[in-house]
Amino acid sequence: MTALTESAELVREQTTETTETTETAELAWGRHYVAVEPTHFRIDYAINPFMDPEVQPDPALAMEQWQTMVATLRGLGATVDVLPQRPDAPDMVYAMNLGLGLVGADGEHRVVMSHMRYPQRRMETGSAQEWFAGRGATTSYVGRDGVGAHLEAGDVFPFGDALVVGYGPRTEELALKHLALDLGVRVRGLRITHPGMYHLDLAFCPLDSRRAIVCPAALDAPSARALMELVPEPLVLTEEEALTTFAANSVVVGRTVVMPACPDRVRAQLEAWGFDVVIVDVSEFHLGGGSIRCLTNPVDLTLGRDLPLLPRGEVVLPPLD
Ligand code: ARG
Repeated sequence: MTALTESAELVREQTTETTETTETAELAWGRHYVAVEPTHFRIDYAINPFMDPEVQPDPALAMEQWQTMVATLRGLGATVDVLPQRPDAPDMVYAMNLGLGLVGADGEHRVVMSHMRYPQRRMETGSAQEWFAGRGATTSYVGRDGVGAHLEAGDVFPFGDALVVGYGPRTEELALKHLALDLGVRVRGLRITHPGMYHLDLAFCPLDSRRAIVCPAALDAPSARALMELVPEPLVLTEEEALTTFAANSVVVGRTVVMPACPDRVRAQLEAWGFDVVIVDVSEFHLGGGSIRCLTNPVDLTLGRDLPLLPRGEVVLPPLD
């Protein structure tokens, strides 16, 4: 009798544990975006391996692709606000890098402005700051105008218990400390070493509370291990898949993944997990080294809901190689 009760209890405990650990929740963020209308998209310089000023995009086709992308996101129920592009800022179309948009626990909108690594993109910040402030957001900086830490928001995504931040090619390690302290959150750093995956969003796409598309080849060995430990159910891309398809540079609205391309194997896994895959061709923008995620900036990441608050913040870095 005693033995029976005990084993029944044991089974119950195990069952509860299994349900708890495999329960997945849709991402609550990713329903409100900011994008920049590509009225002046060109390749004027080369600050990543994809860019070649000898190979220019077709402006009409780029505009058409961008409009289809925006219409697709709106069709899925997302809000997309549009900023005008500065004529002197050809890379401004990659709106993901303008800043890290957040909603505070009090409902207030805030944006930590990017401080671009390359001077060619720094003028974007002034225009973006005015635009965000004009819409009632509070803006702040971790560095600006070439002084202080560099931060590019394409390196920053919430996942699990932390803000996951890629650093190296663009964002600097010092920016992680600022973010942790200013926002009062845990920041988990990942060192990016691959020159072709210079922003984290080329190698990491959160799908829901347990799953993400990941490309560990973008990172050094300890960071690759840390990423695999962080994501309970990773969908791993090879280096080639990530670089040639931009499949990690996708956007998730609820259970729909809006992707520039999707290898069959990746699609099969996404569908097995219950996601719908929608493909939108933004190939003209690949000439500048960015795809769907780079063209859209989610501004509804909510502190306390999508990211636990920690009074004085914390930075967790993988060990050195
Ligand atoms: N040409 C842009 C740059 O090098 C591309 C930005 C891509 N954006 C992104 N979030 N990965 O800065």
